[in-house]
Amino acid sequence: MLDERAAALAALAVEIEACRACSLGSQRTQSVPGEGNPHAELLLIGEAPGAHEDAAGRPFVGAAGKLLDLLLNLIGLQRPQVYVLNVVKCRPPENRDPGPTEIAACSGFLERQLALLQPVIIAPLGRHALRAFAPEAKISEAHGAPFQGETRQTPAGTTLFPLYHPAAALHNGALRPTLERDMGALSRALPAARSAWRVARGGAGEASLSEIEAAAERDQLRLFESEAQ
Ligand code: URA
Repeated sequence: MLDERAAALAALAVEIEACRACSLGSQRTQSVPGEGNPHAELLLIGEAPGAHEDAAGRPFVGAAGKLLDLLLNLIGLQRPQVYVLNVVKCRPPENRDPGPTEIAACSGFLERQLALLQPVIIAPLGRHALRAFAPEAKISEAHGAPFQGETRQTPAGTTLFPLYHPAAALHNGALRPTLERDMGALSRALPAARSAWRVARGGAGEASLSEIEAAAERDQLRLFESEAQ
């Protein structure tokens, strides 16, 4: 049975699929609302779906997604333990960048997803996703460390930790070691990010954290079970 948060995310996904607020809604095959563990500590945010994602209705299932999986594995994580979504939920034709009106049309969905997920760390992948949280920041300067400047949309207590987009490392192999190093830095930033997250939530944070830990344990068990099969 879905818990309350998972049910709310699923209901939001139905709204996203029905959305025609911009022209992308009538051009795509399927919307890509995002997926993962609704209680994940880590939320990774891409820019917009590409052709593979449009066909599958799932985020990061192409080459960039495969690299993302490898990067997660480096810090002991598997995809089902994190949550992955995009700023824009429908594929822009010919993989062009989404325009400001398309980003604006989708921003309400992103806002509601963030309010439901309340992650400990948000990792915007690449400059377009970073811009949704810190419009003036440069990914070349902000990657690989907790973001210190002013942000918008970030839930209280959540740490913003920008990373290069995996597709950037596929285009430019020189970025891959940087991305791998940055993943290690993200993992090391987690304990401090957890404390900031708990403090921002006061007493209620303890309950939420144990909820997250219980959900993560259940996921771990499911992973072991599926690996054993
Ligand atoms: N690139 C993105 O930004 N998002 C996806 O889902 C896939 C590739």
